[in-house]
Amino acid sequence: MFGYPGLSSPSLQLNEAGKLKHLLTLEGLKPHHIQDILDRADGFINTDTRQIHKQPLLKGKTIVNLFFEASTRTRTTFEIAEKSLGADVINLNVATSATKKGESLLDTIYNLEAMQADMFVVRHAKSGAAHFFAHHVAPHVHVLNAGDGRHAHPTQALLDAYTIRHFKGADFSQLRVAIVGDILHSRVARSQIQVLNLLETEEIRLVGPKTLLPHDASAMGAHCFTDIEAGLKDVDVVITLRMQNERMSSARLPSEQEYFETYGITEERLKLAMPDAIVMHPGPINRGVEIASTVADGPQSVILDQVTFGIAVRMSVMAGIMQT
Ligand code: NCD
Repeated sequence: MFGYPGLSSPSLQLNEAGKLKHLLTLEGLKPHHIQDILDRADGFINTDTRQIHKQPLLKGKTIVNLFFEASTRTRTTFEIAEKSLGADVINLNVATSATKKGESLLDTIYNLEAMQADMFVVRHAKSGAAHFFAHHVAPHVHVLNAGDGRHAHPTQALLDAYTIRHFKGADFSQLRVAIVGDILHSRVARSQIQVLNLLETEEIRLVGPKTLLPHDASAMGAHCFTDIEAGLKDVDVVITLRMQNERMSSARLPSEQEYFETYGITEERLKLAMPDAIVMHPGPINRGVEIASTVADGPQSVILDQVTFGIAVRMSVMAGIMQT
C-alpha cells in the first residue's frame, strides 16, 4: 500500500458536480455513474458484428499508458480504445524507464506532465498507486486505474457488467452470479462485487476454498460457498478467476491438480448452473486449473466477448472522463 490517506475516499475521483474526473475505484460511485458508462459504451460498438466505431473525441489529447506490472489484454485494449478515440498514445516502457534508475514515482509523474500528458492509465503492483497519482497530478490531468495490487480493477468490472448486460439483459435484480476461485487476492473480484451491488444483482456468491475467501463477504454484500456444487446451483453467470500466486504470502493451496479436482469449472459442474448460464473469465486463463478447456472453448463461454466489449467500455470511460 502507498502510505497515503483516502484510498477509499470517493471524493478524489469526483469533481464538484459529482462527475468522474478520475476512475480509481467503483467504491462510492452511484448507480447512475455505472449506467452512464455502460450506455455510452453502446455507441462505440456494434454488438452484432463486434465492429468498433472510431470517434475522434480525444483528438489532440495525449494519453500515457504506465504499466508497472505485466498485462496483455488490459494494456492492449486500452491502447486500441485510445487510438479509436483519436488520442496520441504513449506507452512508457517501465522496464527500461528511469524508475529503474532510482527515480521516484513522483518525479516520473512530474516529468510526464511536463511532456503535456492529459491522462495516465496506471497499473501497479501496489494497492493505492492510482490514488497516489491522482493526488499528485495537475488539476487538468486525469488518472485511470488499470489495476492496483489487490485493491481494484474498475474497468475490468465495468466490462464484465457490460458483458452480463449484453447476454442477460439490463435487469440484474433477477440474476444469480457466482465468482469462483481466488477471491481473497483478486482486485477483479473486489471491483466486480461492487459493480454487481450497484446494479442490484439478486445474489452474489463467492465460491472457493476457505483460505481464498474474504472474511468480510457479507459486509461486501456477498455470500460465501466452499462447496462448488452448492455454489453453482442455478446461477445465471459463472465468473472464474485465476490463482493470484504472485499475491499470496504463503502457499494456500495443495496443488493445481487438486484445485482443479475440487473447484475447476468442468462441463459436468456447469450443468448445475442454469442451462443458459454464461461463463466468464478476465484472463489470463489457466486451462486445467480453474477451468477445463472444453468449458473455456465451449458454447457457454463469453470470455473473448469480454475482451472485445472491453474496448468499447474503456472508450466510454475515457470519453466520459475527458469531458469533465
Ligand atoms: C486480471 C488482472 O490483471 O487483475 N487480468 C486482467 O486485467 N485481464 C486478472 C488476473 O491477472 O488474474
